[in-house]
Amino acid sequence: MKASFAANANIALVKYWGKRDEGLILPHQSSFSVTLGGLSVTATVAFGMERDEVVVNGAEATGEERARVIKVLDAVRAGLGFARVETRGNFPKAVGLASSAAAFAAIAVAARAAAGSPRDEREESILARLGSGSACRSVRGGFCLWRRGQRSDGLDSYARQLFPAEHWPQLRLVVALLERKEKRVKSREGMRRTVETSPYYSAWVQDAEEEAARAVESVRRKDLAALGALSERNALRMHAAAMGADPPLCYLAPATLRVIEAVADARERGVPVWFTLDAGPNPVLLTEASREEDAKQLARAAGAREVIACGPGGDPAPAPELF
Ligand code: PMV
Repeated sequence: MKASFAANANIALVKYWGKRDEGLILPHQSSFSVTLGGLSVTATVAFGMERDEVVVNGAEATGEERARVIKVLDAVRAGLGFARVETRGNFPKAVGLASSAAAFAAIAVAARAAAGSPRDEREESILARLGSGSACRSVRGGFCLWRRGQRSDGLDSYARQLFPAEHWPQLRLVVALLERKEKRVKSREGMRRTVETSPYYSAWVQDAEEEAARAVESVRRKDLAALGALSERNALRMHAAAMGADPPLCYLAPATLRVIEAVADARERGVPVWFTLDAGPNPVLLTEASREEDAKQLARAAGAREVIACGPGGDPAPAPELF
């Protein structure tokens, strides 16, 4: 009745931005991501407790954060009673680094294991999705495609691993941490506002399925130039859709633009480096292992306070218990 797993964060190369169902977290479009090796959250889940207790990085969770964890627990715990959930991550929350993706993936995998259910990619992905959409892509390592699905019950909206981490071990994702402060408008609210008010939202959704297919193909071919160009374009189009909302959303900081410019300059000098950006100011650079130092250096020179280089990460794995 107790289990502990660590799951890695992921960065979307083709982004998910906008829900067709807020309760079940069903997206308007498919998305495609790579799991970030080393950026992980551990979750320990135990059933049969006296009350529900949710502890995140040492502090009791409240409000929305707690409610989302309870929602995931409710979907697995029939007859198992109250639960204690504790999570601990090794990277900052809410800076566009998908800490919630790693956390809900770890919670989903640990909760199912604590409930005695066998490992199952689809079930885990659907469960993780109830906590945070992008989490459904973190229940596996490597490169994962979340198909939007068509059903209103969400049973066909989950992620699958298309390529394991070993498919492209030389790929590097370099996270440039410019700001640690939590973002003003969380993705949940930002998405809602974009869907409801941005005139650019339909254009964003229209191209998404083909965009995902193109990204999958460039990963299959390990074509960094094609994947990099696509990732930059996709990220900026997501931000464009968000900027078109009313009131507008701008997740970029001045230093974000400095990194974007430095990346373009580096490419002109022959360094194979591209960027992507989630709903936050911190860019993630795509490059190859042999150019990792160049990418780190350019991020630092553009103002990054901390730089974390990741390769494609693996599946969630059993981890030491947190309590
Ligand atoms: O699942 P959420 O609510 O953390 O939203 C994730 C949205 C983006 O990170 C911006 C894009 C994505 O596909 O991960």
